[in-house]
Amino acid sequence: MKLLLGRDAVHNGPVYLEAGGARAVLICGKRGSGKSYTLGVFVEELLTAAADAIIPIIVDPIGVYHTMSLPNELQRDDLFRWALNPRGYPVRMLVPGDPEALYDPDVLRALRERQVEVVPLQLNAADLSPDGWCELFGANINQPLGIVLFRAVQSLIERGRDFTVRDIARAVGTDERANETTQEALLNRLEAARTWRIFAENGYMPMDAIFRPGVVNIVDLSRLESGPRGRRNLTVSVIARNLFRARADARLREEFGLASPLPRIWLAIDEAHQFVPAGGTTLAKEQLVRWAKEGRQPGLSLIVASQRPSAIDREVLSQCDVVLSHKLTTRDDVSALNRLSQDYMGSELQALIKRLKRVGEAILVDDERETVHHLSIRPRRSRHGGSSVAPVEEERLDLWSD
Ligand SMILES: Nc1ncnc2c1ncn2[C@@H]1O[C@H](COP(=O)(O)OP(=O)(O)OP(=O)(O)O)[C@@H](O)[C@H]1O
Ligand SMILES: [Mg+2]
Repeated sequence: MKLLLGRDAVHNGPVYLEAGGARAVLICGKRGSGKSYTLGVFVEELLTAAADAIIPIIVDPIGVYHTMSLPNELQRDDLFRWALNPRGYPVRMLVPGDPEALYDPDVLRALRERQVEVVPLQLNAADLSPDGWCELFGANINQPLGIVLFRAVQSLIERGRDFTVRDIARAVGTDERANETTQEALLNRLEAARTWRIFAENGYMPMDAIFRPGVVNIVDLSRLESGPRGRRNLTVSVIARNLFRARADARLREEFGLASPLPRIWLAIDEAHQFVPAGGTTLAKEQLVRWAKEGRQPGLSLIVASQRPSAIDREVLSQCDVVLSHKLTTRDDVSALNRLSQDYMGSELQALIKRLKRVGEAILVDDERETVHHLSIRPRRSRHGGSSVAPVEEERLDLWSD
């Protein structure tokens, strides 16, 4: 499976990335250098090359990728030079919680008019570990609050069935070793968690019912608060853990030649430093580090995009076997990349990054093939939604062209 990423800046030939197996990709570059745009190109290529054979998922903290449902008419001429045409893709936008409560009804209507399928993403309480639950509520596992909560979640896991937030509350309420104040404090927090409407209340949500192959699955986190223990991180932690387990099961079936219920997955995370920061923990970090380190075998690919490679967890960085770097200016970031670059590159990477001048230019390092390219990223077929001025500019352009 080959992905067309761009054209070589030196000899102008097309630059492809081999993506048949699982890959871990870092996309980096300073503010406005084209990271999110490039991430969109990647997803377009995955859909073109693999269609229903993979599930592409974009973790979208800013709320910009829904524009992939629209054709990129603005760059029709550029696309023509690439023998491509503008096109929109089927978009499924998953909103943790209740979209009707989180979005202005006019916005929701406009999204649906653009053929964006907006659906609530319901998480399984059982997919957050006992430690994760304690972290979510800032409860130290060596103090009464944490001890009781840990015990409640652990006891439910041991029963071997799925459970809801209400079940956790029940387990806390009937814990005879817990004192009343601790129980009250926990019940209040659990009640607050229920009001987020992020957790499924009725039964288990299988991941293959949530994410679909052949469409752009967008996990829209833009309406939720950030922070290491915020709901954005909670959501990413739970889906990463759930998908990992589901894909490991599917892989086992595939090894026996049995039909697989869940195709391979590409998880692309924009603004990834929010989830896998260098130093410090987050709710999602452990799951994502595991995904990067052990995801290859079950067919789990990862794309992390961030302004600053030096702000990304080193373990995740060291797993990246593809680097797509746009312009970088700070020395820390260039050296973080240099540490990654293999012997065959010497100091070449640093010199190449210095040469990048324009938005959309990048250096591609592919560790598997041991190749390095200076390339211009190909134009997007679907509309890019990240530009700060896009809607106004576009209207003006329309007026001028009349
Ligand atoms: N390959 C490209 N070809 C043409 N225009 C591009 C290309 N890449 C980016 N742009 C334009 O540059 C602008 C910034 O791109 P983008 O939003 O991807 O930057 P970013 O690196 O993600 O920025 P931020 O750090 O703010 O997230 C956008 O208006 C986009 O349309
Ligand atoms: Mg961006």
